[in-house]
Amino acid sequence: MKKKTLLSTTLVATFCLALQTSSSFADGHEVIEKVMKDYHKAPEGTDPLCKKVGAGAATEEELAKLLAGYQEMAKCEPPKGAKSSWETKNKALIDAVIAIQKKDPAGVSAYKQAVNCKNCHSVHKPD
Ligand code: HEC
Repeated sequence: MKKKTLLSTTLVATFCLALQTSSSFADGHEVIEKVMKDYHKAPEGTDPLCKKVGAGAATEEELAKLLAGYQEMAKCEPPKGAKSSWETKNKALIDAVIAIQKKDPAGVSAYKQAVNCKNCHSVHKPD
């Protein structure tokens, strides 16, 4: 795990590029894992991007790459749980990021609710 985290940090830029250029993903697991590691769980001692977004402190560039990540994640099959629930949860994340991009004051609190780790993991994360 540790080794993979380091690797994924180094590859963030490559990943963003890949997100923009590839149209389909064969392996949903890879995509979801990458969004988790790159945006939800930062390496030890640093804040993940989701925390910065929740604090209303993310840059436009960060919001754009986060949005792209969620849009790809939404297209994936959830590893566990109903597809309809997965779609609803991902749509909440996407809509919240778009609201923040539009400077909608309700966006940040909507995002904090949508990004609730436990809410999604309890339904969609395999044990
Ligand atoms: C919309 C749903 C959703 C939300 C919200 C979410 N996760 Fe996840 N997360 C998943 C799923 C699904 C997996 C399992 C991926 C797989 O194994 O294919 C996962 C897996 C993970 C993993 C394991 C990655 C690995 O190496 O296998 C970490 C770490 C993680 N999430 C962190 C977080 C944190 C921290 C938050 C909250 C800030 C969060 N997630 C919010 C859906 C979500």
